[in-house]
Amino acid sequence: MTFEQWTRLVLDRVESALEHYLPAADVLPAGLHDAMRYAVLGGGKRVRPLLCHAAGELTGATPEALDAAACALEMIHVYSLVHDDMPCMDDDDMRRGKPTVHVKYDEPTALLVGDALQSQAFITLTSDVPGLRDAAPRQAALVRELALASGSIGMAGGQAIDLASVGRSLTREELETMHRLKTGALLRASVRMGALAGETPAADTLRALDAYAAAVGLAFQVVDDILDVTADTATLGKTAGKDAKDGKPTYVSIIGLDASRALAQQLRGDAHAALEPFGARAQRLAELADLVVNRVS
Ligand code: IPE
Ligand code: IPE
Ligand code: MG
Ligand code: MG
Ligand code: MG
Repeated sequence: MTFEQWTRLVLDRVESALEHYLPAADVLPAGLHDAMRYAVLGGGKRVRPLLCHAAGELTGATPEALDAAACALEMIHVYSLVHDDMPCMDDDDMRRGKPTVHVKYDEPTALLVGDALQSQAFITLTSDVPGLRDAAPRQAALVRELALASGSIGMAGGQAIDLASVGRSLTREELETMHRLKTGALLRASVRMGALAGETPAADTLRALDAYAAAVGLAFQVVDDILDVTADTATLGKTAGKDAKDGKPTYVSIIGLDASRALAQQLRGDAHAALEPFGARAQRLAELADLVVNRVS
């Protein structure tokens, strides 16, 4: 199977699973459910679900368990985007090529969409599916991974640093910490949760996957910073040039465009090196590292 075929297969599975795990639009309160579905369905690159599925193939996780973990990750990710775009944060009016939730609906709805998606993620992660039912310790490990990656020492903490840094120049270390938290944590959790959804991985397997995920997680936000400068709004599906306009410290503003590009390639190399112990079994993860670094949107 080619990488494109594999990707198509996983994306189709994940789209149906998201459809299934989100409350239907006619379930009360219908307005909130409609907005949750608007935010999640039919858009985005779904990088976190892809990483989760690829990692889970290494530990024999069931496809159903991986779908649940992948959907939970995507729900947390979308919640973070909906809140990130609100006027009190980045104040953006376009996301995934369409109006942001607070523009299409209103601000209270956007706030609640984020809140409800966060809960829905944990409802999804504790589903009764093969590979998760009758596997309470596995389920608890997954819940803990996702909660840690989302909270104050993960995504939410990174967002707090991001907002507190507007108009300031961070040191390179501070910038790296911010990026590892706001974006890296959830990407790292995507790989770890994929692996943990299967047979309990050996400590050195998890360590190698973690090193891979740390490199890919940081590379992802380095590339996001680059694309904000180099890509156009139509390609990105979100407003380009926003970081400089808002005075956000980014890799581009702190080390420059060329050094940022070089860093992304170096991290891609680190990711590949971490996968060496797995050989051909980690082909999908290797291809995903390339996708993250070479993407154009
Ligand atoms: C955008 O994430 C926000 C960051 C964490 C940098 P993605 O680039 O994964 O957004 P979608 O899911 O494809 O829309
Ligand atoms: C967002 O970072 C990170 C999270 C949503 C957690 P950005 O603010 O750079 O993401 P974009 O560029 O708006 O997608
Ligand atoms: Mg932001
Ligand atoms: Mg933003
Ligand atoms: Mg950005």
